Amino acid sequence: MQIIQTIADLRQQTKTWRAAGKRIALVPTMGNLHEGHLQLVRTAQQQADCVITSIFVNPTQFGVGEDFAAYPRTELQDQAKLAIIRNDCLFMPSVEDMYGTNAHTQISVSHLASLHCGQFRPGHFDGVATVVCKLFNITQADCAVFGLKDFQQFAVIKAMVDDLNMPIDLIGVDTVREDNGLALSSRNSYLRDTEKQTAALLYQTLCQTRDAIIAGNRDYAALEKQAVANLSQAGFQSDYFHICNSHNLQAAKPEDTALVILVAARLGRARLIDNVYFSL
Ligand code: PAF
Repeated sequence: MQIIQTIADLRQQTKTWRAAGKRIALVPTMGNLHEGHLQLVRTAQQQADCVITSIFVNPTQFGVGEDFAAYPRTELQDQAKLAIIRNDCLFMPSVEDMYGTNAHTQISVSHLASLHCGQFRPGHFDGVATVVCKLFNITQADCAVFGLKDFQQFAVIKAMVDDLNMPIDLIGVDTVREDNGLALSSRNSYLRDTEKQTAALLYQTLCQTRDAIIAGNRDYAALEKQAVANLSQAGFQSDYFHICNSHNLQAAKPEDTALVILVAARLGRARLIDNVYFSL
């Protein structure tokens, strides 16, 4: 596996691949790779000839007081994991190379980015959209693979790609979970062992709510209230628990048939997000 640390060197590599007619896939990550990330890389390998996995803990998507400094950085372990699954190229740019000292431009996917997590993390999705746009431009990848645990992030990136006519195919991959249902996340490392058991309740609550809807309950406000109460009783502090139309992420109406339930909740030091999406 090649490890490339500068934008200039990456451009040189992608130029060679492109000249040889290779299809290129990008898997953007912030590192601390777990099985969920490796599943993204495996999916990318099925979609393209050459796979670039990027590791960049992007400062612009963290707000003041958030965990940018504490975010787990495990570069050597990440490199070993990627080498085992034969990832072609690991791109690890520096903050200086990515942003310089005087960046002027930001991508803002206005309305979509202000909902749900956007209400609690102002500016977060602007940071995500901007860095993802930069990674698309730097790599000129034909396709990019993202995890659907970050359902709203995927929707924001899709809107950006559609709105700006970016020539890239987006692929979303289902969430990988622990046996108890807890979605794999780098931030699970903030949980104590006892909290890891409690954390599984997040997915259980999503599934219970989904099952109630499938069984015919359309009182979405009451279902959301009940879910927040159940989570609170178990020790979570919910930022939100929203039953939404999965196409536009607006509050679901009783007649909507494509739904997603989005949740963000704090447990101990961790802020966890998860979702379930389904059709009626
Ligand atoms: O999902 C993530 O890990 C990040 O938000 C991403 C897409 C790599 C952008 O920094």
